Amino acid sequence: MIKQAIIPLAGLGTRLLPLTSVFAKELLPINGKPGIEYILDECIDAGIKDIIFIISKKKKIIKDYFYNDNFYKSIIKKKKDPRLVKEYKKILFYKKRIKFVYQNKPLGTGDAVLKTKKFIKDKYFLMLLPDDLIIKNNCSKEMIKIHKKYKCSVMASLKVNKNNVERWGIYSISKNLDKNNFKISDVIEKPNSKDAPSNNAVIGRYILKKNIFKYLKNQKKGKGGEIHITDAIRKMIYNNNLFIGHKFYGKYLDCGTMSGYINSGNAISKL
Ligand code: UTP
Repeated sequence: MIKQAIIPLAGLGTRLLPLTSVFAKELLPINGKPGIEYILDECIDAGIKDIIFIISKKKKIIKDYFYNDNFYKSIIKKKKDPRLVKEYKKILFYKKRIKFVYQNKPLGTGDAVLKTKKFIKDKYFLMLLPDDLIIKNNCSKEMIKIHKKYKCSVMASLKVNKNNVERWGIYSISKNLDKNNFKISDVIEKPNSKDAPSNNAVIGRYILKKNIFKYLKNQKKGKGGEIHITDAIRKMIYNNNLFIGHKFYGKYLDCGTMSGYINSGNAISKL
């Protein structure tokens, strides 16, 4: 069973400036609720018990959000507002499940994942990238089912516009397992449209095998001078670790860009 999830949150969020100049993008409200709470709800609904946040000193505000007990207690005492009591209980419920680890230099997603090495207990764990919201269907839950069936790594997948491939990790398929699940033969981080092997993009949900840490330890910088998780996954695939691309049913919302962030709020308000 997959019981642990990790969530990298130590990036700079430059695409959302100026909103992120003094604030963490993951706490920005999406239809009245911080983006990170959608991700936490997905994890918990998928049966995850233990969640590891990778933050940085600059993003300590994320920890503060879950550790503001004295403030809640004093306001609740004065106002006795049932809505606040409910919200505070929800925060306590999340807090019990979250651990924090630090990545103070944003060297890339691969480096962020490596920081969780000593906390991962089981052979497989889930990783969610909080910029990628998937609504209407719990993608993590579906991926855990696929993992149970095939006992391997799984990555969420979506066909993207051919002209936009350089924004994602793009993978190629060696075999269709069924209409929604594909055996992956290669993955390239942010290729230009000329070099992209397909328009199958990896979206921010991964079930990863613990042996990825061995690869990450030796992983050199790649595109843009960052240590990418995709580059370590590529090596694992070359070393015969099975990765499945899972075409999910939910609706994908990219909250990492300004237009995507604005659109996410609109889309969720219409649900
Ligand atoms: P991105 O590179 O897509 O987002 O990282 P970013 O760096 O936060 O924002 P931009 O590109 O400057 O606008 C994907 C996820 O990985 C985390 C980010 O917080 C984000 O959730 N991340 C990225 C880390 O935790 N550490 C890093 O070194 C890089």
